[in-house]
Amino acid sequence: MKILTLESTCDETAAAIITDRLEVLGSVVASQARLHERFGGVVPELASRAHVERILPVIDEVTRAAGVSLAELDAVAVAHTPGLAGSLLVGLSAAKSLALALGVPLVGINHLQAHIYACRLAAGEDVFPCVGMVVSGGHSSLYRCATPLEFELLGTTIDDAAGEAFDKVASMLGLPFPGGPAIGKIAEQGRADAHRFPRSFLHDDTRLDFSFSGLKTAVRYQVAPPGSATVDPAVLSEQQLADIAASFQEAVVDVLVAKSTLALRKAGLRTLCVGGGVAANRRLRARLEEAARQHGHRLFIAPMALCTDNAVMGAIAIERLKAGLIADLDLDAFPGPLRA
Ligand code: KG4
Ligand code: ZN
Repeated sequence: MKILTLESTCDETAAAIITDRLEVLGSVVASQARLHERFGGVVPELASRAHVERILPVIDEVTRAAGVSLAELDAVAVAHTPGLAGSLLVGLSAAKSLALALGVPLVGINHLQAHIYACRLAAGEDVFPCVGMVVSGGHSSLYRCATPLEFELLGTTIDDAAGEAFDKVASMLGLPFPGGPAIGKIAEQGRADAHRFPRSFLHDDTRLDFSFSGLKTAVRYQVAPPGSATVDPAVLSEQQLADIAASFQEAVVDVLVAKSTLALRKAGLRTLCVGGGVAANRRLRARLEEAARQHGHRLFIAPMALCTDNAVMGAIAIERLKAGLIADLDLDAFPGPLRA
């Protein structure tokens, strides 16, 4: 079987063609990063319009890259939750139209589950049951994943997502969007212990939730004192900026490592899968590996290319298709955010 997967939840328009044996025949990602750069974040209305322009060329390109014609497709899958409403609707409408026209099944993908499934795909072996942690621009969540079809939410952020905190802090430090890679880069020159920023719920063993908005505010006060209306990173030296970035990153990483380890203990599981854009962070990857060695659990982190949004991770649709979980053509878009 060959399945076309579509991804348009946020600001990447992506398509992939994957076989039922999880072979990736083709993958195309059209990023909108440059379109949103000058706003310091994704502008939903611009994102949905850009998806409309890009979705058909991206589908066309992936069929050519894979050497597979539309008529050879056995199913069409699409991420329909969570994400930006207008963005989701573009991928969903394209997928429904194709499924109807080709007379093949439509499969709905949960974007967060797909981020975790990227680990299964890259591992080339079964990773379930596992604890799945998604750290992306819109979400920071922990799941107990019994099978690729069963995701039970264990904890989530009560305010900002980890990636959102990276993006907002980057903006305060005068760094380009998306903020994660920019902060990671300058943090390499900084001292992680220069500032003691807050680590929410770190020592509360009863909670698997996250909170990053206090951390973001603490960084703001480091750049501009409470009460000041403007934030001007130009008053800080390069070393000061690097120290703030490194200390901020360390606070996020401390919490993510501690909570994922706690989730494993609480769930009684020995495998951790980590996906989402923030999983591309080098410091986080190193610290997760250190924790896995220390506690003796199996660790799968999505490979760099599959951390940020892509359609390859939509391979989870094959699991749904095999289980007969076919969507009706009235499948709706559910923007979320998916919180407890
Ligand atoms: O998964 P993703 O591409 O989109 C969503 O589903 O949200 O994640 C994007 C997020 C952005 O907030 C970006 O700043 C962050 O992932 N990110 C990183 C890194 N690369 C991307 N955060 C930290 N370190 C990175 N290297
Ligand atoms: Zn994502």
